This record gives sequence, structure tokens and C-alpha cells, in this order.
Amino acid sequence: SKRLEDSKLVVLSKPADLGKRIKIRAGVQSRDQLVHICGWVHRLRSQKGLIFLVLRDGTGYLQCVLSGEAAKTYDALTLTLESSVEVVGTIKALPEGKSAPDNHELAVSWWTCVGKAPGGDEAFSNRVAETAELSSLADSRHLVIRGETASAVLKVRAAVLQGFRAEFEDQGILEVTPPCMVQTQVEGGSTLFKFDYYGQEAFLTQSSQLYLETCLPALGDVFCVQESFRAEKSHTRRHLSEYTHLEAELGFLTFEDLLAHLEQLICGTIDRVLAQPTSSSLIQQLNPDFKAPSRPFKRMDYKDAIAWLNEHDIKTDEGEDHKVGDDIAEAAERKMTDAIGVPIFLTGFPREIKAFYMKRIPGDEGFTESVDVLMPGVGEIVGGSMRMSGSQELLDAYKHEGIDAKPYHWYTDQRKYGTCEHGGYGLGVERFLAWLTNRYTVREASLYPRYTGRCQP
Ligand code: 4AD
Repeated sequence: SKRLEDSKLVVLSKPADLGKRIKIRAGVQSRDQLVHICGWVHRLRSQKGLIFLVLRDGTGYLQCVLSGEAAKTYDALTLTLESSVEVVGTIKALPEGKSAPDNHELAVSWWTCVGKAPGGDEAFSNRVAETAELSSLADSRHLVIRGETASAVLKVRAAVLQGFRAEFEDQGILEVTPPCMVQTQVEGGSTLFKFDYYGQEAFLTQSSQLYLETCLPALGDVFCVQESFRAEKSHTRRHLSEYTHLEAELGFLTFEDLLAHLEQLICGTIDRVLAQPTSSSLIQQLNPDFKAPSRPFKRMDYKDAIAWLNEHDIKTDEGEDHKVGDDIAEAAERKMTDAIGVPIFLTGFPREIKAFYMKRIPGDEGFTESVDVLMPGVGEIVGGSMRMSGSQELLDAYKHEGIDAKPYHWYTDQRKYGTCEHGGYGLGVERFLAWLTNRYTVREASLYPRYTGRCQP
């Protein structure tokens, strides 16, 4: 167009003083002084010779106004969403009645386009349409994460991990980093990812629990935040093939102590995240109805849960009544948790449906000192238990499961060299986030989710 032709003549000259280099989150305290900000064009519109763009830099959003010469350069007239830009100018509070992020805007005195994003068919908005097919959304995950919802979930994720770590630090529990490549199973052979390790069979870890247990005599109570891997065959909204597993192991404690610790960890972390204005407003944006759970958590024994399911006519996946000894399937568990509507400590699972290492309930040996934490909307977010503390019962348990004890010698030794009563748990970080931020699936709580059939981008 004629206007575009003419505009090619307008070239802004770079000022000697670019002002103070700041991130958008420092905008409020940097009002009325010359500032220099870099970011991406998140929104864009032009009106009466002015160009309004909302800039995004990961720390916040800032409305910028290009006017006069600044709005007439070639780049201004061809600017596209998701282009990267540098802007210089002054942030002014907005008058009453106008609205923009943080109620202010930057009047641009100089700017430059660093990387122009394509327009037309290749334009960002066409690549990431709200209505896009789920599979193409997954293919475009690298673009989807630039959006306000996806990035908000990932920011809450960072705050939650920080909150957990602060809570552990407060309790004097030490962080360790166990290996991902292992030669022992923890949660059953059917979900192991196998690989060739210099000619030997090895697995991607399902849980760091066994390593954490061995740390107790060395380091005291420990925790880790480690990726766990499960070759899950089922497509569900709460199963990933790789997930972030927050696990802890505590020594010299009772089952009651373990439950009290779990309650404090969950509630303490939520209090920390909500006390922080940024993460609190992100949760408000994503899950406006969220209320921090009240203590104490509801307790429910496994046998009572079976009775509850039958009383409420909730059937097994096969359409039958539940009976003691059954694993409670995802659908039934979710219906029960949603109906009850508060976090539940579900305790005392039968030995036969749980992992080999769990301590039996004294006097009721067919059942274990185990706990699942169930949250409305998601179901199980934590699995934990007390562990067998004697060598012989552990050796018997290997045999019962058909596990070769040899590769587990280091785990068994924990009982031989100064055993103690101990217990621990694993919390699925994506499930915790799906509950906290009200996401339909755990996939939304993972940066680049891996699930059946998907290992990219
Ligand atoms: O109940 P799980 O299998 O327990 C363990 O792995 C124990 N060894 C943990 C321990 O005691 N240290 O898994 C623990 C939690 C589950 O409650 C769930 O939140 C999460 O890990 N989880 C998954 N999250 C996403 N995708 C999957 N496929 C998951 N499998 C388990």
C-alpha cells in the first residue's frame, strides 16, 4: 500500500540513553522513568494511527503504545503477534476508566523488532487456534505454552515446587537426587520401561523410594523431586508415562506420624503458595473456586470405603458390587471422592493389591499400613505406607512376589544394619497441580507431557 511505501522512509534513530533495563514485573515501581524492556508481542491492535501492543516477558504483561513516528516504521505497520521486540519509554498510570495489566501503559519513545514472526497462513493465531484438534495442540505444545492459561499453570507449578521445598526445609528434611537408571523395580514389572545398559537389562525408575530408604541412616529424613517413568497402557486423564514424583522417607515414626506429616506438607505448601501474591492470583485465574482444604483430613479405612461404594451403588469396572480384596478402580475412586468432596486419607489396603514392601497391620496381617490421599476432581494424588522393617519378612515378601532378592541386597541391608520403623510416600506433582489449578488432565500440568503414543515435542 501507499502508506507502507511511505513508511519505509521512517527509521527511528537509536537513542544514546535506553533507560533502565527492567523486567515487566518491576513495572509498577519503575513508573515515570525511562525504562528498557524486551519481550514478545502477546496482543496487538491499531486504532487511529496508534498501535497498542501487550508485551510479555514471562514475568508479566505490559501494554505499550506506539504513536507518531514510532507507529510509522515498516516494522510497525507489518508487526505480527509473537514477534520479539525491544521497547524504550516511560510507564504511566492509566486514568480512571481505562484498563490494562497493572493499570498502566508504556508510552514508547523508541523500539525495534528483534525477530519478526510470520503473518498470513503461518501466523501464530492460526497455528494455535482454540478450536484446534487435541493432537495438533499437542504437536504445537511449544507454541501453546506461550498462552495465558498454559503459562499460568506452569508458573503455578514452579511456585508449588518452591513451596514443597520450603516446607521440607522448614522440617529439616534433606533433598537428595537418586538415579533415574536402575536395575530394580518398585511398583510391579508391568509398567517398567526397559532399556539396554551396556548389554545388561536396566529400567527407567518407577519410584526413588528404595534409594530414599537407604538414605535414612546416612542423612536422616530425606526427600527428592525426580522424574518417574511408567509404561502405562491405559489412556486416562491422570496417567503420564513420565511424571514428576515428589517422594519422602522418614525414620523412627508411626503410621499416625506419617499421616500428620502428609497433612502438614500438603496444607503448609498450599498456604505458602497462596501467601505469595503472584501465584495466588494465578490460582484465582485458573481455579476461582479453590479453597484451601481444612484440617484434619477425612479418614476412611479401605474396608469402610468398600462398604460406602456398595451403599452408594457404585460398581466395579465390570459392573459388579465391590468386595473386600478388590482394587478400587479409577472411576469408582473418583466418583466416591467427588461425592465426598473433601481430601481423604484412604488407609489400610489389602496386602495383595499393594507393593511388596508395605508393613502389615499388626493383628490384621492381610492389610497394610498404607495410605492414598484422594482429592476431589482427580482422585489419588499420593501413595504412601510404612515399610517392612525386618529382613526376614522382606525376604519372604520378595519370594511371595517372585522377585529375585539378589539385586535388592542394598535395600535389604537397610534392615540388617540398624533397622528402624520408617515410612514414606510419593506425590504425583502433575496430579497435585491438576487438582489445585482445576485442569481436566494432568497433561496440562506437564511442560512437555509424555503419554501412550507421544514422546515429542
Ligand atoms: O502409588 P505409587 O505408585 O507409589 C509409589 O511409587 C511409591 N513407591 C511412592 C513412595 O512411597 N515413595 O505412586 C505415587 C504417586 C501416585 O499417588 C500418583 O500421584 C503418582 O505417583 N503417579 C502418577 N502420576 C502420573 N502418571 C502416572 N502414570 C502415575 N503413577 C503414579
